[in-house]
Amino acid sequence: MEAFLKRNGNKSLKKVEKDVEMEPDDEKDNKSRYQPWVEKYRPNKIDEVSHQPEVVSALNKSIETGKIPHLLLYGPPGTGKTSTILALSKELFGPEFHRSRILELNASDDRGIGMVREKIKKFAQKKISKAVSSDYPCPPVQLIILDEADSMTVDAQAALRRTIEVYSAQTRFCIICNYVSKIIEPLASRCVKFRFTPIAEEAQMKRLQYICEQEEINHDNSALEALVEVTDGDMRKSIMMLQSAGRSYEGDKLTAEDIYEVSGKIPIEVIQDIWDQILNQSDTNISELAENVIQEGYDIMQLLSQLIELVTNAATRDVSHLKKARIAEICAETEFKLIKGGSEELNVSYLLVSISDILNS
Ligand SMILES: Nc1ncnc2c1ncn2[C@@H]1O[C@H](COP(=O)(O)OP(=O)(O)OP(=O)(O)O)[C@@H](O)[C@H]1O
Ligand SMILES: [Mg+2]
Repeated sequence: MEAFLKRNGNKSLKKVEKDVEMEPDDEKDNKSRYQPWVEKYRPNKIDEVSHQPEVVSALNKSIETGKIPHLLLYGPPGTGKTSTILALSKELFGPEFHRSRILELNASDDRGIGMVREKIKKFAQKKISKAVSSDYPCPPVQLIILDEADSMTVDAQAALRRTIEVYSAQTRFCIICNYVSKIIEPLASRCVKFRFTPIAEEAQMKRLQYICEQEEINHDNSALEALVEVTDGDMRKSIMMLQSAGRSYEGDKLTAEDIYEVSGKIPIEVIQDIWDQILNQSDTNISELAENVIQEGYDIMQLLSQLIELVTNAATRDVSHLKKARIAEICAETEFKLIKGGSEELNVSYLLVSISDILNS
């Protein structure tokens, strides 16, 4: 049974059972082969969530006692927030009742004030099904999961304050977001808060190692180190990259080079070369340089973050802190303009000329 659940990731058991009836073995194998690994290896139990020990121990206690508070989970992407809540609901209600006891809403749903009033109230008012299971605590509550709640309007959040109070006898709210500062204080203060941190190197390596073993990926240790390095504690990103590199590597082992190739990271020599040219050239050549950068087709957001990395590291020690701060400001300004839809060509020229000005002033 365990192997069966592992193969089928976080699908509800009902759905899995249906699949078993309908699918011949090879079709099932195909499905497992093409299933995204982020789903295949999504933790099914709270204990499988890596690197968030406080959250894991607090929620395990809640499962033991059956007492669930309103929850607010926040932290950077790919650190296990959504997975934790889904695992919690499975462990509370079991596969049979888990779907009927949760309402899951994310940023793709309409979450304006009208939606809060209707959808949430309708679910919160629902009489909850009687769940009797000796294997799961099944407390008499239901969960409303508001994923990516930082994209909810302030009005919709304000409307939720009252709803939470009125229905709290049988409904618990789980608010999930990246930026806790975007959740209004009266809402945040009604919840027990848990901060998710970027996954530490060791924990990330362990999980990636496990996936490589399961998927029989012959790899060099440097490949896993490279994955950890380029993803900054984002487990989702590292698993996705491992899957795409694992599909396409040539040679007999997956290496760091294969990872850098799929990561979109710009080779450090290229960044260093751009920096040296900015330091040494006149303005006319800088615009030529900008043209070359665009023609090479590099991801400009990636270029910005690697430039900042270079500026802050020891290789640029002789540049004063004030100049470094001004360069960071220009990079931030450029990023903002690009997000707003500004032209890459104009912005890269502006960026490089401004950095050259700062360095040569
Ligand atoms: N702490 C973790 N332990 C084990 N696997 C994890 C962890 N965090 C993330 N993952 C893996 O990454 C995938 C995405 O995780 P999840 O959806 O929980 O991230 P999130 O924190 O909700 O991110 P976002 O803020 O972008 O919504 C999971 O399916 C799982 O494979
Ligand atoms: Mg999420």
